[in-house]
Amino acid sequence: MPPLRTGIALPIEEIARKPFDFAAMFPGLSRIECEVGFCSALFLTEYANRHSDTGFLGIEKKHAYFLRGLHNLERRLKQDNVKIVEFDAGAVIMMLVPPASLDAFHIYFPDPWPKKRHHERRLMTRGNFRMFHEKLKPGGRIYAATDHPDYAEFIEKELAAVRDLFTRLPYGAADREVMTKWERRQTAKGIPITYYLLEKR
Ligand SMILES: C[S@@+](CC[C@H](N)C(=O)[O-])C[C@H]1O[C@@H](n2cnc3c(N)ncnc32)[C@H](O)[C@@H]1O
Repeated sequence: MPPLRTGIALPIEEIARKPFDFAAMFPGLSRIECEVGFCSALFLTEYANRHSDTGFLGIEKKHAYFLRGLHNLERRLKQDNVKIVEFDAGAVIMMLVPPASLDAFHIYFPDPWPKKRHHERRLMTRGNFRMFHEKLKPGGRIYAATDHPDYAEFIEKELAAVRDLFTRLPYGAADREVMTKWERRQTAKGIPITYYLLEKR
């Protein structure tokens, strides 16, 4: 199906040369948030529609999911406040997101990479928490969730290593304004989810 709306997807080869200029990307919007791994973009679309005063950068590395997400955004987004990039989020954030430019990260159910030799591929590492901290504005937040107990344990250790950077605030299922697709599925099955809300110090 042809795109119904142009300009949502940012081709990596066109944007990779210089850091994002969020003021130019989202004219008139001073709040900027980023979702990592948006998959079908059901959360991103609904959340962006509810927060029309905020610009959203979505990053998804898998081609099929990226296309599905783009399709949903093209059909359901009510205003021009979302841009998406198909690439590895770590690289995009490190290279293209300016320091102190984001109000929030949303990282829901990042791939758990259960094998020990693959742990270095995990997104929620102390190194990446330091990078997220650098990219957030003062008081900026990270919203995250996992349903993988071993990953949750790993995240606790990584957070302990950067405890001087973030304050962990109370946050749980009852606080969720919009659920992701995976979150709905796991919640319906009764699978426990660990939620995180971290505020930049
Ligand atoms: C388990 S799915 C969760 C999808 C969605 N957040 C949800 O909650 O329904 C993880 C998603 O993150 C994406 N992803 C994992 N690592 C990524 C990375 N380094 N950069 C961008 N996307 C990534 C995957 O392709 C997949 O779409």
